[in-house]
Amino acid sequence: MALAASSVPNDLEPYWMPFTANRAFKKRPRMIVGAKDMHYIASDGRKLIDGAAGLWCTNAGHNREPIVAAIQREAATLDYAPAFQFSHPKAFELAGRIAALAPGDLDHVFFCNSGSEAVDTALKIALAYHNVRGNASRVRLIGRERGYHGVGFGGIAVGGIVNNRKQFGALFTGVDHLPTTYNREKQAFSIGEPEWGAHLADELDRLVALHDASTIAAVIVEPVAASTGVLPPPKGYLERLRAICDKHGILLIFDEVITGYGRLGYAFAAERYGVVPDMITFAKGITSGAVPMGGVLVRKGIYDAFMKGPEHVIELFHGYTYSAHPLACAAGLATLDLYRGEGLFERARKLETPWAKAAMGLKGLPNVLDIRPVGLTVGIDLASKPDAVGKRGMEALDLGFFEYDVMFRAVGDTLALSPPLILSESQIGEIFDKLARIIKAVA
Ligand SMILES: Cc1ncc(COP(=O)(O)O)c(C=O)c1O
Repeated sequence: MALAASSVPNDLEPYWMPFTANRAFKKRPRMIVGAKDMHYIASDGRKLIDGAAGLWCTNAGHNREPIVAAIQREAATLDYAPAFQFSHPKAFELAGRIAALAPGDLDHVFFCNSGSEAVDTALKIALAYHNVRGNASRVRLIGRERGYHGVGFGGIAVGGIVNNRKQFGALFTGVDHLPTTYNREKQAFSIGEPEWGAHLADELDRLVALHDASTIAAVIVEPVAASTGVLPPPKGYLERLRAICDKHGILLIFDEVITGYGRLGYAFAAERYGVVPDMITFAKGITSGAVPMGGVLVRKGIYDAFMKGPEHVIELFHGYTYSAHPLACAAGLATLDLYRGEGLFERARKLETPWAKAAMGLKGLPNVLDIRPVGLTVGIDLASKPDAVGKRGMEALDLGFFEYDVMFRAVGDTLALSPPLILSESQIGEIFDKLARIIKAVA
């Protein structure tokens, strides 16, 4: 890895960092200056193993040569093409490749630039779909407690994380929430999908009884709620949600911003669970994090519902300047080639068992309250320090970065891991060995 260590900039003040304790970071910056395959390089030159695929996104590993080359070529060929009224070939090619990986008749793709935009796009499509079909009263949106759907107003309204909502006013009206599927008493230390909890899908019937189906546009859930600590769906839960949505004409949206592109051993979680939603949101893994991109896959019937009326009229008044940006499309195509060429989704499937076994090896260590492995990800709950929720998690993160040379996510006192899918069995051992030492150190 030809990378010289570079120093931390003198003035850290001007940058207001997202979802970060800014003052703590600026006192002791976790600064990264390079990356290759399974590793990051810190500003002091240390090589750290990446246990989180950046932010759940670099599924093909870092700085992969074919992706880098594709981006470089595209930048020198077509820096930008207007997204409205004009386009470029790679946008259509990539849409086709994405649709080909999706189950059922999810065969049209609307592009945007992030997971948050994908969610807001899907919610808008749901509202507009009912509108164009003459069901304008279907305006309610149903999310789920502990759901994360990005930071747009739509996403935080259907999301179920109080800190993401409480500072931002009244939000979107007409939103309701299903209960979380997580219950530690019933599910602790389950490997994969827990046995208990499918009945929680029936809460949707209760919300329908309360609001009436004629007022409900869509339900949005993450197949595995990742950002709040990796909460796999109870066995049978998603099927039940699908059936209830079908019964009432409600659209079902799977937010697969994290679960898409191999995290659970398949192109989409929809395939793993054998449930075809009406829309799938994706981002992150589509370009292996190399260029921002997001999008929404929609079923044929939804797309067709819009393709009516005079042909010179815009069918959906929505889009972004950088929808299907040429660099993102080039990166996306090269990334999908890598996933296919190296069999990375199958690799994730094969590694799921050794990964879960190694994760479960942490059971019994001090403060470990639950471990939830699924696919190539895991959430590990640590007990909070008295009156200092999140402190133990941050101490673990710091120890990992500064002393044990391993990176992962800390969500409060839950440690979340989701390595690039290229990791080896010995790297699984390395990651969990380091974690065991960190968990003991923060006891
Ligand atoms: C399920 C889900 N939806 C949406 C988002 C938002 O994505 P972005 O940060 O790209 O806006 C995330 C981000 O982690 C996510 O996990």
